[in-house]
Amino acid sequence: MSDIFISPLKGKIKKEINIPPDKSITHRAFLLSSVSEGKSQIYTPLISEDTKRTIDLIEKLGAKILFQNDKWEITPSKKLNNSFAFYSGNSGTTTRISSGLLSSIKGEFNITGDESLSKRPMKRIIIPLSKMGATIKSNNDHLPMTIYGGELSGIDYNLQIPSAQVKSAILFAGLRAKYKTTIKGNINSRNHTELMFKNSNVDIDFNENFIEIHPSKPKAIEYEIPGDFSSAAYFIALGILSEKVDLTLKKINLNKTRTGMLDILNLMKANYIIDNYKNDLEPIGDIIIEKSEMINLNQIEKNLIPFMIDEIPILSLIQTQSNGKVIFDNLSELRKKETDRIKALVENYRNIGIEINENENGFVIDGPQEIKGGEIDSFGDHRIAMTFAIAGLLSKEGIKIKNYECVDISFPKFFKTLKLFQ
Ligand code: S3P
Repeated sequence: MSDIFISPLKGKIKKEINIPPDKSITHRAFLLSSVSEGKSQIYTPLISEDTKRTIDLIEKLGAKILFQNDKWEITPSKKLNNSFAFYSGNSGTTTRISSGLLSSIKGEFNITGDESLSKRPMKRIIIPLSKMGATIKSNNDHLPMTIYGGELSGIDYNLQIPSAQVKSAILFAGLRAKYKTTIKGNINSRNHTELMFKNSNVDIDFNENFIEIHPSKPKAIEYEIPGDFSSAAYFIALGILSEKVDLTLKKINLNKTRTGMLDILNLMKANYIIDNYKNDLEPIGDIIIEKSEMINLNQIEKNLIPFMIDEIPILSLIQTQSNGKVIFDNLSELRKKETDRIKALVENYRNIGIEINENENGFVIDGPQEIKGGEIDSFGDHRIAMTFAIAGLLSKEGIKIKNYECVDISFPKFFKTLKLFQ
């Protein structure tokens, strides 16, 4: 565990920033390619600590991977390997989504993870996957977990938690189950799995209220992974909060189920332009950001939260710099991320001179407040480290970040990129 010091922004900068490819879409593309018909070609996938766990998993399943520059060619195994042990590191997405796939393969799969992942709840996938016919043994609904997979049956499932990982686990299981699977309830979360399945000719129908999937053999994928909106969000925040920077972010995924933060920024009248918009498998475009005088927002609408679940930390930083009191509520899921993000935000803000009040499912910020600077702990959470790194650039005295290497989970070149501003 090491420290890094982020000094305040230097002079003016006008720049195009390289944003890494989308983590969620990369996980799904690798997983789907391991059970598709024929060779898949995935261009510019994200190669980070999290996605390496998924790559590892599909190799264990028998997929052969060839890569040259930014092109990754995946040939699935004719007969999927069964019965292996697998280390999922820090990756909740690998663990939860792949559990759906592994449940559908006859065999025994043992999954372990790092300390943080071992504290995250798995009951949410154990329940539906067991209903479909898998037997799953766990440590009190946590990792380590052993999945005894086999022939599954489709189910009708009412999803309680608005979680795309759980939804996707059921969809990967449903893809290879007998009979159809339907999902209703809290399904309004990122829909990358649904879009990718549809594009691979999977028999799936979906809308805001309902998903129906029939067992299918997906066709191979050929797709260039767009930039990750969640990684772009740090530079969107920097651009709107500082008159010193003019930033352009190219080819960013603009799927509506990911860009809830833009909906909030629209309500606050932030200045940004979307250019070169096109809708391929997923919508993409360039984002050009300018310093903005924003209006106050009192409350964050509950329905938008799943569409910006990973952007709450950086959105909270925007609120510390905006006028008026904002109540962040309905955020119980944030306590179950890589760390308890509510606790981490509250503790760290106080350490850099920002007043914030914690409540059961969120916090209240009264802005604008000066960011003095100080020392914070990422608690091993990449999104906490990146949020406070941006705060460091905007601070008076700079911020020391403990345990900063966790950015490798989603944005390995983050601190190198930040050097441009220091
Ligand atoms: C993800 C879904 C979200 C998100 C995570 C990635 C995905 O988690 O926080 O970073 O790729 O499906 P939940 O499904 O637990 O909300």
